[in-house]
Amino acid sequence: MKEFKRHLVTAALPYANGPVHIGHLAGVYIPADIYVRYLRMNQQDVLFVCGSDEHGVPITIKAKKEGCTPQDIVNRYHQIIKQSFADFGIEFSNYSRTSNALHHNVSSVFFKTLYEKGEFIEQESEQYFDAQANQFLADRYITGTCPKCSSEGAYGDQCEKCGSSLSPLELINPISTITGQKPVLKKTKHWYLPLDKHEQFLREWILQGHTEWKSNVYGQCKSWIDGGLQPRAVSRDLDWGVPVPVEGAEGKVLYVWFDAPIGYITSTQECTKDWEKYWKSEDCKLVHFIGKDNIVFHCIVFPAMLKAHGDYILPENVPANEFLNLENDKISTSRNWAVWLHEYLTDFKDQQDTLRYVLTANAPETKDNDFTWKDFQARNNNELVAILGNFVNRVVVLTHKYFQGTVPAKTTLLEIDTDVLAEISTAKQAIAKNIENYKFREALKDAMQLARAGNKYLTETEPWKVIKTDEQRVATILHVCLQITANLGIIIEPFLPFTAKKIQSMFGMNACTWNQSGNVELLQTGTPIGEAALLFRKIEDSEIDAQIEKLQQTKQAMNTNVNKTDVSPQKPLIQYDDFSKMDIRVGTIQAAERVPKTDKLMKLTIDTGIDVRTVVSGIAHCFNPEEIIGKQVSILVNLQPRMLKNIESQGMILMAQNSDGKLEFISPVSKVDNGSAIC
Ligand code: MF3
Ligand code: ZN
Repeated sequence: MKEFKRHLVTAALPYANGPVHIGHLAGVYIPADIYVRYLRMNQQDVLFVCGSDEHGVPITIKAKKEGCTPQDIVNRYHQIIKQSFADFGIEFSNYSRTSNALHHNVSSVFFKTLYEKGEFIEQESEQYFDAQANQFLADRYITGTCPKCSSEGAYGDQCEKCGSSLSPLELINPISTITGQKPVLKKTKHWYLPLDKHEQFLREWILQGHTEWKSNVYGQCKSWIDGGLQPRAVSRDLDWGVPVPVEGAEGKVLYVWFDAPIGYITSTQECTKDWEKYWKSEDCKLVHFIGKDNIVFHCIVFPAMLKAHGDYILPENVPANEFLNLENDKISTSRNWAVWLHEYLTDFKDQQDTLRYVLTANAPETKDNDFTWKDFQARNNNELVAILGNFVNRVVVLTHKYFQGTVPAKTTLLEIDTDVLAEISTAKQAIAKNIENYKFREALKDAMQLARAGNKYLTETEPWKVIKTDEQRVATILHVCLQITANLGIIIEPFLPFTAKKIQSMFGMNACTWNQSGNVELLQTGTPIGEAALLFRKIEDSEIDAQIEKLQQTKQAMNTNVNKTDVSPQKPLIQYDDFSKMDIRVGTIQAAERVPKTDKLMKLTIDTGIDVRTVVSGIAHCFNPEEIIGKQVSILVNLQPRMLKNIESQGMILMAQNSDGKLEFISPVSKVDNGSAIC
């Protein structure tokens, strides 16, 4: 702890395209918060920065879907996310956002510096382009079959099935997610960070210099480096993001993974004018908390950027976690398979620490783990209520009952007393060591071990029986128990801050430092003790059943959505007369041509059997003229003629429309005479 004068702790900036869920908390924010609280309790100089990641294609896609602007989307979720973190006691020094003006400035200056130092390769290449949408197809704007695992629906940047990073050109059968069309190749210019140029440095810095990193992190770095690093594009053809700050870059923005980690720097600048003491001084220890899908960006790309810039420090550690699943299924924002933090708090009011506890006890530190509601209930009822809560409650209640609520004096200590008191400093030291090594599950176990030992001691010493014969002995027993309880109030603070506050205030303690713990005389004899506060409450089966039911409904809704795509409801009933007024015939398309200066209109010449007439139809975005000539179609012939683009349209062609907007003609299965009535 002594080697560094300052600490800068970052937590991955969450995408502002949805609220945060238990996977976020377990993977990144709770471990980071535990670590930071521990440093703060050790009176270290620490900044803890985060913010919303507000650029990137998923946000623009969501905006398009909802008919609003990307800024509307990020404004909405930035607030919700920020509130959830505050509600769960994640105490950032600053929570910023990447759409703000300072960040745009900080990231463009960063880019320009590298640009001027000649750290980028500027290159034209052919990339996929959606001619209809008139847009290049970066990242999630393109999908296709994964070249690695052959599953459908892989994106231009990643296959979610097998986790491979991809580039759009690798996709098999690529299609645009905007129009569903096959893209064409078109030339475009981009800037690339030549990671290959940094290979030697990365090899030495990580593979030789940081063998202590978690094995999942080290392993991923090794396979990236051994696999051969390639130049990576740091710009995109998009209109949402930080504009590329060089000439001739109109319509281009910085790649979201270029600007987002610079968000850590922006967020630090918002905290203090002295931000350079945290970013440009070897006295500062930089630690990035992230999820496993972020490893390459934080261990390879961002360090290469910092190194290329020249005056920044590099992370000392990048403690990435694996993923948390929910009831045996991958957590997914788009499929609504998640426990959302804001919803949790409406169902489990004031029970933040229960969730913090379960997510830490079951944290996916070394492998993916599963969150189940049954496990949540069991850990709350059997551990928090039955061990920690029960111990603290019994000690405080008995002190009020036998000693008017003040800490009684101890007399001779027996072996059983000194043994249990020894557990206080054992726990303190074990927790410290584990937190400093990013082993938060183990650290929490060490803390619970002290509560267990106290609970067992109380059960074995039975003060409620001894009180009948030996009040002095009971005084000693409760004195011992109270010291354990007060120490618990300190050492659980990094994990369970709300509960720690309650315990501390029962003993009139506040702003406790880590070094106050480990002391068997933390409370002086005669100290008054407050009333027993309720720390945890039992969670009933019915509450858990309700949560499981809610998830089942999500599953059902998902299944119906898959089978019935946006089918509109039936219209009100009509009479046969209403129908028989319509004269629908089969006709043949004799000629077809696009109506100039329109996207959708086609002028058709139809042999209706009655006559040969002109119909203007909105189908040009789905068919080419040549491919429909000769087709038999259905036509409503007695529709009042109307003028469309100066052409008189004498009827209407009937079409079926798919949920994706694609049109199909309603044609007889085999040829019939022109003029045949449809009835
Ligand atoms: N938004 C990214 C994610 O949720 C994380 C960005 S971390 C940063 O996966 F370093 F880029 F900020
Ligand atoms: Zn794949």
